[in-house]
Amino acid sequence: PRKIIIDTDPGQDDAVAILLALASPEDIEVLGITCVAGNVPLDLTVRNARIVCELAAKTDVKIFAGCDRPLGRELVTAEHVHGKTGLDGPVLPEPTMPIADGHAVDFIIDMLREHAPGTVTLCPLGPLTNIATALQKAPDIANRIAKIVLMGGGYFEGGNITPAAEFNIYVDPQAADIVFKSGASIVVMPLDVTHKALVTTARNDAFRNIGSRVGIAVAEMTEFFERFDKEKYGSEGAPLHDPCVTAYLIRPELFKGRHINVEIETESKLTMGMTVADWWGVTDRVPNATFMGDLDADGFFTLITERLARL
Ligand code: BDR
Ligand code: CA
Repeated sequence: PRKIIIDTDPGQDDAVAILLALASPEDIEVLGITCVAGNVPLDLTVRNARIVCELAAKTDVKIFAGCDRPLGRELVTAEHVHGKTGLDGPVLPEPTMPIADGHAVDFIIDMLREHAPGTVTLCPLGPLTNIATALQKAPDIANRIAKIVLMGGGYFEGGNITPAAEFNIYVDPQAADIVFKSGASIVVMPLDVTHKALVTTARNDAFRNIGSRVGIAVAEMTEFFERFDKEKYGSEGAPLHDPCVTAYLIRPELFKGRHINVEIETESKLTMGMTVADWWGVTDRVPNATFMGDLDADGFFTLITERLARL
């Protein structure tokens, strides 16, 4: 199995991404979960990560608290999408499992230094503050990272927090800029892909029909989360953004993209946090990321449903 660190701001879709990883030990070994401020403030993302691990009955997972604000901006949150706890929907018990000692950023650095180069994959599902801070504090880790597979950005699909920017990148554009310039091998799951990962009624019924606590909780999470997209855009259901990251680790062939140059806008007020993706190769800028553009959505939901049924 591939060793990973999940860096996250749960979030209902983060929760499903984590559950998919925890349900897939033959493919994925979760070294730890590092939390960051994003969808909701840090204390709630840490709480929610613990709730999700307890839901999966994986109370031995190490969960760390990380950065509580972006590098150079005020924190922007998304309660309008995820609810006031960040994990609204199912009624789940307050967590009792411990929070690991130490800072998330130090855990990321230590893991990359302790393991052989090229063996630890980072999976950011929220703003890139923890990852950028680790790269700044310990520049030697950049070429020890196997891959960074992240959810963020959008190009043809535009943005979801401003017309130009996707939430995770918008919250901390400076951090994203550091990550995209780090030289690490990067795979990006932008809105162009995640807006194809829609939980239709039939797909949600399949989660619920698993019949387990996990299956029912996931159905309730996506039902809560989808009200936003359904009411606002009339779309069929919630986009499962973050599970694209963990699904890619298990079944990369579900995704199609291009290895291209991606730069982050960090100055313009109008397009702050935009992922400027040179999809058509119209510049000489050096490719630094594999930017995904398409997804086999049926294969993706079959994988998630089958794996969640194990928990
Ligand atoms: C991203 O923002 C968050 O609200 C979701 O969890 C996802 O990581 C989508 O733009
Ligand atoms: Ca997220």
